[in-house]
Amino acid sequence: MTHNIDDRSLAVIVLAAGQGTRMKSTLPKVLHRIGGRPLVGHVIDTALALSPERVAVVVRHERDLVAGAVVELAPGVVVVDQDEVPGTGRAVELALAALDDFAGDVLVLSGDVPLLDADTLAALLTAHRGGDAAATVLSAVLDDATGYGRIIRDADGAVARIVEQKDATADEASVTEINAGVYVFQAPALRAQLALVGTANAQGEKYLTDVVGLLRQASLPVAAASAPDAAAALGVNDRVQLAEAARLLNARTVRRWQLEGVSVLDPATTWIDVDVTLSPDVTVLPNTHLLGATSVATGATIGPDTSLVDCEVGEDAVLRRVEANLAVIGAGVTVGPYSHLRPGTVLGAGVKMGSFVETKNAQVGEGTKVPHFIYLGDAEVGRNTNLGAGTITANYDDVHKHRTEIGDEVHTGSHTVLVAPIRLGDGAKTGAGAVIRKDVPAGALALSVAPQRNVEGWVEKNRPGTGAADVAAKARSAQKADDGAQEENR
Ligand code: UD1
Ligand code: MG
Repeated sequence: MTHNIDDRSLAVIVLAAGQGTRMKSTLPKVLHRIGGRPLVGHVIDTALALSPERVAVVVRHERDLVAGAVVELAPGVVVVDQDEVPGTGRAVELALAALDDFAGDVLVLSGDVPLLDADTLAALLTAHRGGDAAATVLSAVLDDATGYGRIIRDADGAVARIVEQKDATADEASVTEINAGVYVFQAPALRAQLALVGTANAQGEKYLTDVVGLLRQASLPVAAASAPDAAAALGVNDRVQLAEAARLLNARTVRRWQLEGVSVLDPATTWIDVDVTLSPDVTVLPNTHLLGATSVATGATIGPDTSLVDCEVGEDAVLRRVEANLAVIGAGVTVGPYSHLRPGTVLGAGVKMGSFVETKNAQVGEGTKVPHFIYLGDAEVGRNTNLGAGTITANYDDVHKHRTEIGDEVHTGSHTVLVAPIRLGDGAKTGAGAVIRKDVPAGALALSVAPQRNVEGWVEKNRPGTGAADVAAKARSAQKADDGAQEENR
């Protein structure tokens, strides 16, 4: 989505230097993820949708970690280092300095307010540009405004100043109109007022919010534009708000796909990352997580209880109770219940797999059956092959991983162990319980189990007095009587 508001130049400043103390985390707050992307990634993405001339991101806490993530997400942004002076005002002051003599509109976004969409920000810009305000604040009315800065209006109803929760009187704290932490400023006015902001407040910080009161004192008007969806103004300061933001974002994503023709039976237990792509007539059953860069083609049914990370799923595939990561699943494949597809798994069209199968770095040809209790690791399997229950690739010798190659139309007996490196030619077969240590030529039957030998009467002799010996004795004498009668009848 690209928004061209009008021809006035726009710079965006994203605040991401804070530690996020209330998260109680070693990970900087803005790198906590929702919808498969860090909080600050959502904010930068939205900023870029406005096609600004410049984007500056302010960092300090875990500087290299945050800067690295930011540059990876958006290589063109300017990273600005905040010094030891704390506060959102100081962060913006330094970002403005890095933007040189930029004189257009400055949109300030908080790295911890991830749900604001480009339409809301475009509307904020339009409101700002349509009036004569030196600043326009995005506001919202919340049932519970705890923790947010409150918008204090004067007798005429004009925005007079913003007061932080920690500095608010009881009266001020009862105000439910909050500052979303998002603003548009005329750059020269912002620059001039920031120079005047002090740190005489409960947190000893240079507050950006103080600029609002200072602008009014300088007789410059300040406007507020209310967010159409108050929930989108949610600021993430602790883990409760993080979970809430994740839930709201997910609800938005699920709804978007439902309107695109995807059936989602239970939105509350379905989690879809923002970078996932789904096609019409995909069905998603409860407790399903579609994560990372997963894509699912039309007609496929995923779930219940399925988790796919960075997977590609073909048309009409059916995946029930599956865990898969970096797997490519062909058209018409059925997997599950209870199977684990690890990275490098590639299943050709029409493959049938599961229950209880694990694969890793395994390519399986069209129409092949990999059912009941199988492990395929570092393996290549041809077309229309049938692996017997419990077939296992023994791919690891404690030092190296080795490959197994299985041809087309092969049939392994139940409980075959394939000791890699090993090759089974086209059409080869193995007997039940075979331990295959040598290559099997095309069309050969490989048997490795010793012929069966029955030791008659072993139980009665070696386990006298046990239940097994008793029933065996009875069965054997009945058998003898039977044999005797048959003898007489001859
Ligand atoms: C801030 C606002 C508050 C608003 C709320 C909305 C101020 C003083 N208060 O409060 O009015 O209602 O956001 O969510 O601005 N940051 C820096 N450098 C710093 C401190 C913070 O870059 O020195 C960044 C943080 O990383 C964060 C953002 O600024 O992304 C907001 O900081 P935070 O500490 O979360 O402020 P709030 O208490 O939420
Ligand atoms: Mg915050």
